[in-house]
Amino acid sequence: MNPEEFAYLKKKIRQLTNFDLDNYGHNQMIRRLDGYIARYKVHNVVQFCKILQNDENELEKLQKFLTINVSEFFRDLTQFKILQEEILPKLLRDNLKLNVWSAGCSNGAEAYSVAILLDRLSPYREHRILATDIDKKIISHAAAGGPYKAAELRNFPKKLEEKYFKNENGDFRVVDRIRKKIAFRLHDLTQDPYEDCFDLIICRNVVIYFNGQTKKILRKKFLDALKVNGVLFIGATETMLDMKDNGFQRLSACFYKKKAGVPEKYQETVLSGRGVI
Ligand SMILES: C[S@@+](CC[C@H](N)C(=O)[O-])C[C@H]1O[C@@H](n2cnc3c(N)ncnc32)[C@H](O)[C@@H]1O
Repeated sequence: MNPEEFAYLKKKIRQLTNFDLDNYGHNQMIRRLDGYIARYKVHNVVQFCKILQNDENELEKLQKFLTINVSEFFRDLTQFKILQEEILPKLLRDNLKLNVWSAGCSNGAEAYSVAILLDRLSPYREHRILATDIDKKIISHAAAGGPYKAAELRNFPKKLEEKYFKNENGDFRVVDRIRKKIAFRLHDLTQDPYEDCFDLIICRNVVIYFNGQTKKILRKKFLDALKVNGVLFIGATETMLDMKDNGFQRLSACFYKKKAGVPEKYQETVLSGRGVI
């Protein structure tokens, strides 16, 4: 599609869903949308928008396609092992109760993975876990505790399945005791206000789809939302660019600690399976 068609489509999608494509990487988004629209027998973007306007299901399908909400329990075992063995024990030594945010939580598998780790590491403490996503449908699924397919639990220790899941015709639903530990909310990382005083923010495989400027803005918002010494956990394919003076100290490839001495509202010049548990 040419730039005019993309501009038209962006405007329509914003009107119909409030989803702002401007925050996402343009070239990648155009490529993906071209492939998506090619499945329809339409001559141009205007015709495609008419379909969206007249059919709620088609609009929902497109939203699902745009948000890419694949997730699973203990996605990236190596990183969850570091979380379990190094990051959480240190945070638990320094704080009685943790305030955790899974941002862009998709189906909730990520937030439940942390809730289960905390249940193992500190069974008698009540932590707070907030889990948010822009996608209303996926958040309802998460808040209901699933059900999840066996494939989504491929990294989950078999011996603990019975303790943390109910079997529902071969699928798995998180037990109520763990489900109730998490507050699931609808939240757009690019538009809605952030809470603060978090000890741990997990935002993985979300910002990768955003453009460079939006990534920088979100990184600063995460910094402001963390307590000093709080930790940001990012995806393995995401890096914290321009590490110099961005207010974070690198702990390892996916973990970054908010440095002490960072002003309350830090101003950045650019701003103008197995083995875990
Ligand atoms: C690939 S999933 C990542 C899920 C989980 N964090 C993980 O790594 O397994 C990306 C999620 O980001 C959400 N997302 C995309 N744009 C968002 C935005 N602007 N605000 C909040 N969530 C967003 C999508 O709805 C989707 O559920």
